[in-house]
Amino acid sequence: MAKERIYSAMRPTGPLHLGNLVGALQNWAALQDDYECFWGIADYHALMSEHNDPQVISDAIPEMVADWIAAGLDPKRATFARQSDVPQHAELFTVLACITPVSWLERCPTYKEQLQELGGTRDVRNYGFLGYPVLQAADIIVYKATAVPVGEDQLAHLELTREIVRKFNSVFAEDVFPEPKAKLTRAARLLGLDGRKMSKSYDNALYMGDEPQAIRKKVMSMLTDPKRPRRADPGHPDECNLFPYYVIFAQEATESVRKECVSAQRGCVDCKKQLAEELVRYTEPLRSKRKEVLQDPDYIRDVLSDGARHAREVASQTMKEVREVIKFL
Ligand code: TRP
Ligand code: SF4
Repeated sequence: MAKERIYSAMRPTGPLHLGNLVGALQNWAALQDDYECFWGIADYHALMSEHNDPQVISDAIPEMVADWIAAGLDPKRATFARQSDVPQHAELFTVLACITPVSWLERCPTYKEQLQELGGTRDVRNYGFLGYPVLQAADIIVYKATAVPVGEDQLAHLELTREIVRKFNSVFAEDVFPEPKAKLTRAARLLGLDGRKMSKSYDNALYMGDEPQAIRKKVMSMLTDPKRPRRADPGHPDECNLFPYYVIFAQEATESVRKECVSAQRGCVDCKKQLAEELVRYTEPLRSKRKEVLQDPDYIRDVLSDGARHAREVASQTMKEVREVIKFL
């Protein structure tokens, strides 16, 4: 029996952080045997916010491929597809744009949020950015993917994709596109160094490729339990930004950390020192794998061109069917 097809993507806007690793990549990697997976590099989506410095995008692409492979995404078992290598994304986007009401896009909660979040530092008051979810819909359905592993922040976009598919089905034809479902990934409880959402734009991230010295320095700067002003006070692991890092990256240490924290046997400085070493150890294979990949630009080029070739085969078949039902023969 044919495997169910999965699509998900990331925007290449910079190196990936530990939030991306545990919130997305590790979940994606676990799907590769049971599903036919397409992993998208959404460079047009990146261009919507990074057009004033597009070099950021081209620099980020090889880094992203290296981060992906280090995290266990496997170009032998899945297809790595760079959006701009597969012109059918843009072609289908144009068709979908013709049937998508502007009001659906304006009321999309992520649109308003992103205007706020990125609006301070990026020029996002453009027409393409309003259409972000339409291109995202095209990304998914150009491969007729039926499941999309995403975090909660992308659920609104997925719902829009489903609405656009229903509209397509009612306007043109029922039998071209299935409605993709969200495959909700385990949410990363991991916040940034300062306790806000981990994000490059907040400068509060630990990166997959960070060197041990950088990890140590960053961990020492982390926000801890705000209700523990003095070393002698008992701590509250469940209100400490550091504790979830133990849960995720050093499971076996959590019990003693909790016990020693609530009884004030453990100070936050020592706790940070220990966590830094746990993270250095955990990330060691990631660092070496991503370095190995980055040292071989030919390999990266091959991964992308093989992926693009296969992606274009699938996507052009879909576009043939689309052209038939819109009578562009
Ligand atoms: N919007 C997604 C993000 O910022 C990236 C993305 C682009 C995507 N196209 C997609 C995710 C299609 C899932 C499916 O994370
Ligand atoms: Fe957080 Fe560790 Fe300090 Fe407890 S001891 S408050 S878990 S940093």
